[in-house]
Amino acid sequence: MPENNYIKAIQEPIFETIAKASAELGVESYVIGGYVRDFLLKRNTPKDIDVVAVGNGIDLAQKVASLLPEKPKVSVFKNFGTAMIKNDDLEIEFVGARKESYHFDSRKPVVEDGSLEDDQNRRDFTINALAISLNEKNYGTLLDPFDGVSDLKKKTIRTPLDPDVTYSDDPLRMMRAIRFASQLHFNIEKASLEAIKKNKKRIKIISNERIVDELNKILLSETPSVGFKLLFDTGLLHIIMPELTNLQGIEEKEGQRHKDNFWHTLEVVDNISRNTDDLWLRWAALLHDIGKAPTKRFDDKIGWTFHGHEFVGSKMVYKLFKRLHMPLNDKMKYVQKLVLMSSRPIVLSQDIVTDSAVRRLIFDAGDHIEDLMKLCEADITTKNPRRFKKYNNNFKIVRKKIAEVEERDHIRNFQPPVDGAEIMETFNLKPSKEIGIIKEAIKEAILEGEIPNEYEAAREFMLERGKKLGLVPANND
Ligand code: CTP
Repeated sequence: MPENNYIKAIQEPIFETIAKASAELGVESYVIGGYVRDFLLKRNTPKDIDVVAVGNGIDLAQKVASLLPEKPKVSVFKNFGTAMIKNDDLEIEFVGARKESYHFDSRKPVVEDGSLEDDQNRRDFTINALAISLNEKNYGTLLDPFDGVSDLKKKTIRTPLDPDVTYSDDPLRMMRAIRFASQLHFNIEKASLEAIKKNKKRIKIISNERIVDELNKILLSETPSVGFKLLFDTGLLHIIMPELTNLQGIEEKEGQRHKDNFWHTLEVVDNISRNTDDLWLRWAALLHDIGKAPTKRFDDKIGWTFHGHEFVGSKMVYKLFKRLHMPLNDKMKYVQKLVLMSSRPIVLSQDIVTDSAVRRLIFDAGDHIEDLMKLCEADITTKNPRRFKKYNNNFKIVRKKIAEVEERDHIRNFQPPVDGAEIMETFNLKPSKEIGIIKEAIKEAILEGEIPNEYEAAREFMLERGKKLGLVPANND
């Protein structure tokens, strides 16, 4: 078998069907892009397959669907000249080869038929322009006009054309370059990096949704700081997330310096990424200190302070999510909550840990207590081994205390043992503010450890508290 035969890459039965359909229509077709790249990188091949037809992509999709036993539906996107079929767990997208890269960039609907080479020229990176033939004459042959295979070996992100052209065709590719570098541990070629710096402002024409997709992929990579450092160095981050770049820098006053909260944040994100694959916990790590830029002050007596940065930061989370068109749902609230609570366990670890403080922490964090502890542990970035050990140990103590208190008092997701309905019934009350007062007092008494988290004690406490408010128990017997 010739060296550039990659028949092994196209073992899925769907490829034979596509080959058959192409032969019947008399058009050439190729599998291209991520599927080929990931096969060569020995990564799991993606479930979405891109097929380029030298001819009409929509016709090819329809022909393929008609040859498949399940006769799947063909979704046609006429404006883009593309069509998509879902078959088993695969999603196959068909596109006609074009001279312009219009199908990646909806703002340029120039449609001019092209050859395979034209199409490869207009793709983002050499490693994404690799194509494997599905045609009888050279079935399985790899077509690699720009040495994409050698870039894969050298771990280089390079554009097929002058990078200025490739990035202006679709400025999202600046983010994609950085995302691939972060995901695959690749380097971006120098000329490309220069072009990104030069074209960075063009990112503004890209929708927030597409930018966030790339940010999420960077955050989910093994070492997200690789991507964020590139975003910072190219100046893209200053445009898309100034809240973060505002954290960069160290100020000195009267011989006192604070740490650089931007580079610190990236370390925290890397640390947490070793402990969780959860996207939102990684977002929380990324944003946990954003309140520090607007709250930074220098106090003559105590030096640099960031009072209330957690509260300010949690408000900024909402604004940032909104601006980037991210979901404003429970995920956003989760990130807000972790940012808001991000210093609570630290405070605990410095003081003598009282049971009531631990109960409050568990009550306020609810189900997120474990994530909060992970965030705090990731937040330790001191390079001094003695201090590292000390801080880490303190959190171990807090964790132990949490486990003990939780086992005894069951505070997590705790519902006071006497509820509003019972208070109403006991004192024969209509909905009124007294009910809220009593409920809150019961909760406080339990958290403070004045009474145990048990029914009898809570009921007795309720009767006493009611009396103080001048309420008389109704005679319900
Ligand atoms: N492509 C491009 N420019 C873009 C987006 C995509 O040139 N802005 C081309 C590339 O050839 C890419 C292919 O379209 O390989 C498919 O794009 P996509 O599915 O977005 O990415 P993949 O490369 O498949 O990678 P991933 O699935 O990791 O996003």
